[in-house]
Amino acid sequence: MLTFNNVEYSYLNQPVFSDLNFELNQGEFCFLIGKSGAGKSTLLQLIYMNILPTYGRISFDEYDSRTIKPRNLPMLRRKLGVIFQDFRLLKDRNIYENLSFVLEATNKSSGDIKRKVNDSLTDVGLSHRRYSMPNELSGGEKQRIAIARAIINDPVLILADEPTGNLDPETSLEILEILKKINTRGTAVIFATHNYELLKSYDAKIIRIEEGKAHKVIMKIKQ
Ligand SMILES: Nc1ncnc2c1ncn2[C@@H]1O[C@H](COP(=O)(O)OP(=O)(O)O)[C@@H](O)[C@H]1O
Ligand SMILES: [Mg+2]
Repeated sequence: MLTFNNVEYSYLNQPVFSDLNFELNQGEFCFLIGKSGAGKSTLLQLIYMNILPTYGRISFDEYDSRTIKPRNLPMLRRKLGVIFQDFRLLKDRNIYENLSFVLEATNKSSGDIKRKVNDSLTDVGLSHRRYSMPNELSGGEKQRIAIARAIINDPVLILADEPTGNLDPETSLEILEILKKINTRGTAVIFATHNYELLKSYDAKIIRIEEGKAHKVIMKIKQ
């Protein structure tokens, strides 16, 4: 479903990494680790095709980094759900509106939108919060809403960029549990983190970005 072939990405003529090779199958869960600045967010942005490889090839679903056209990007992105450390909810809208907003461009009927919003809120256990404003929620609740938003278009892959970076250990585990639950329904997940405690609690594939000599390399350390 996702393949990196000899991927290099350079920023200002400096390789962030090169020779990245890995695959992710449908429904797989994988942690992406590496210290700050190793290139985790860059790798996720490459999958989102926000940026393109300087060398090599990424294929995701039916899309290929060498042939993708700007007009295909919205379709590609509908197949991805993205979650960030800082939640990125729209502060001036309530939770229901934050979620329905994502469906606006998809030509769904208002009945469908309502059902999808309610289903994804149920998935993260926050139906009762639908009329709250983002600033009335705790950090853990905000991140659960961000997860609900990420799954609302039934993506094949969720990209979580340090989703527990602003949360305490207990809440972090709750977020991991929710993503595991969504994963068991068949959605692949890439979970970037530098929280090694979380890794211990779930025996999943791990991809580590490490500094090589002149660049950073990626390797599977555990299957
Ligand atoms: N658009 C950009 N602006 C600034 N720095 C960038 C950019 N793209 C890549 N980099 C560089 O890429 C490296 C990896 O950054 P990043 O992917 O954010 O790492 P991580 O998410 O693992 O902390 C950093 O050294 C950073 O300087
Ligand atoms: Mg990052």
